[in-house]
Amino acid sequence: KIPVIIDCDPGIDDVMALLLAFSRDDLDIKLITTEPGNQTQEKTIYNARAFTSYMKQNIEIARGLKEPLFRELEVANDVHGESGLGEVIFPEPDLFESDRTALNALIAVLTESEEPIVLIATGPLTNIGALLLAHPEVKEKISYISYMGGAAVSGNMSPFAEFNVYVDPHAADIVFRSGIPIIMSGLDVTHKAYINMEELNQIESMDTDLSQKIGAMLRFYILNAKNNDFQETDFENSFRLHDLCAVSYVVTPELFEGKNCFVAVETEGRHTAGATVVDYMHRSGKPHNVKVLHSVNRGAFVNQFMEAVAKMGRQ
Ligand code: BDR
Ligand code: CA
Repeated sequence: KIPVIIDCDPGIDDVMALLLAFSRDDLDIKLITTEPGNQTQEKTIYNARAFTSYMKQNIEIARGLKEPLFRELEVANDVHGESGLGEVIFPEPDLFESDRTALNALIAVLTESEEPIVLIATGPLTNIGALLLAHPEVKEKISYISYMGGAAVSGNMSPFAEFNVYVDPHAADIVFRSGIPIIMSGLDVTHKAYINMEELNQIESMDTDLSQKIGAMLRFYILNAKNNDFQETDFENSFRLHDLCAVSYVVTPELFEGKNCFVAVETEGRHTAGATVVDYMHRSGKPHNVKVLHSVNRGAFVNQFMEAVAKMGRQ
């Protein structure tokens, strides 16, 4: 089994990523940490507890930092709703939050592990940035970071910034400069990792409580995207399963293609704060620090997700 830690900000697609991870017998989830991003820390940890508990998983969930490292928090009400999970309500969780902070839990789990752990990160990287700042020695226990965030070509918060990096560019900067290998599932690949209405109907026709809840969350997202007009028109009838890519890559890297590049994070740019500057043509001559994914086998990726919904819905 591959040992992993998941750092997330649930978030509709974060929950889908958790679902895929829970469904996989080849993953050993050591810890879940939450951070602010799609919603406040209060809400993201509640959502992580509620969904994990609903899925009958017994995993430590630790509370991360309350704010981005140096910026004020901007949440994504317009995309993920007031609660962070659209209008879907999960039962009151019986899984409590850990009595250690995310930072302490991360340090303990990493140092105590005999083998290196894969970090899956689907939020603004605030916890990981703080961890590496305070305890750079844990680096050697991280085999790589599978990260949803960034964009080589164009952003979704500003012309160049993707949401996760935009929320906490300083944290992303620390992580990208850490020397830990990074697999970047940025918008370049996640915009190709979408599920369409026909596939969504198929999920709902599984007719389990889980499939209905997944369907309702996805429909909320699609409707919001339409109302807010925050993406190009082909987005109207499909949902990009951004965060799912970060989990899918860990279990099935063969579904993805990418290019090793040098990537820097713009923390202060006048027009570009939060941008990932991807050196596709190797102009800087600097060593590659990131594998930037650009393609996905969408059919296999969506099947993998559907199988996860089917399997976990029967539990
Ligand atoms: C990313 O931003 C969040 O809204 C999603 O959960 C995903 O992690 C996509 O830009
Ligand atoms: Ca996320």
